[in-house]
Amino acid sequence: MDIWKYYDITHKKHLLCNPMSKDKLDGLFLLLDLKPNSKVLDIACGKGEPLIRLTELFNISGIGVDISPYFVKDCEEKKNKRVSNSDIKFLEMDGSKYRPKRNELFDLTMCIGASFIYNGFTGTINALKKVTKPGGLIFIGEPYWLKEPDDEYLKISGMKKEEFNSHFKNIDIGEKEGLTCIYTLVSSHDDWDHYETLQWWSAYDYATANPNDTDNSELLNKIKKSKMEYLMYGRDTLGWAIYIFKRQ
Ligand SMILES: C[S@@+](CC[C@H](N)C(=O)[O-])C[C@H]1O[C@@H](n2cnc3c(N)ncnc32)[C@H](O)[C@@H]1O
Repeated sequence: MDIWKYYDITHKKHLLCNPMSKDKLDGLFLLLDLKPNSKVLDIACGKGEPLIRLTELFNISGIGVDISPYFVKDCEEKKNKRVSNSDIKFLEMDGSKYRPKRNELFDLTMCIGASFIYNGFTGTINALKKVTKPGGLIFIGEPYWLKEPDDEYLKISGMKKEEFNSHFKNIDIGEKEGLTCIYTLVSSHDDWDHYETLQWWSAYDYATANPNDTDNSELLNKIKKSKMEYLMYGRDTLGWAIYIFKRQ
């Protein structure tokens, strides 16, 4: 089954495609000191909610990049509905290949839930640092180990222990790369449950509404596997945070 179709179906009901609550993210946005036309870049922007919300609050000028044609279409529809006259653009492409025009630097850059694009957390810090103004902010959303992962969890999920760090290490890496961590937003169990279980709901709804889709058995098998992994291991093993770094 096409991977982007899978994510489109399983994230149909999500506003944010990451395990942070919308209210916590909005609380962070209200702390920002962005001005009209402040430049914001969102790599792997998902369905565009962060950029659109920042436009509603500050009338920023923004670029969102995502590889999924389904999500970029959602972004365009949302833009037309909520901020049609704004200076935000959505690009359907591989985020790792995005280069700003005329080497422009951004006041705020983010990559929330997609550090694999840059081969991990350190790579993401370095990539975003290059396109952020001195004094600007960098938001990175990343999982962290709450505890040592069980071997069986690594085996069935295909994850490697080295893929993620502890919460402390995520902050330490950013600081060793010359940034200052000024704030963190950490997801609760409730936030993670919302993110994970809404995928189950969307998948079962889709299969009921589209009984003749030949992808249904693969879709439901994948959801069943991810449900078991989350309930048996992930829920107590992986945490999630958005790290707010300042480039000095
Ligand atoms: C966990 S979601 C996070 C989406 C968004 N940042 C949010 O928080 O709502 C990961 C996103 O990465 C996108 N993605 C995956 N590989 C990508 C790539 N190589 N370049 C750009 N986007 C990519 C997916 O389409 C998806 O929207």
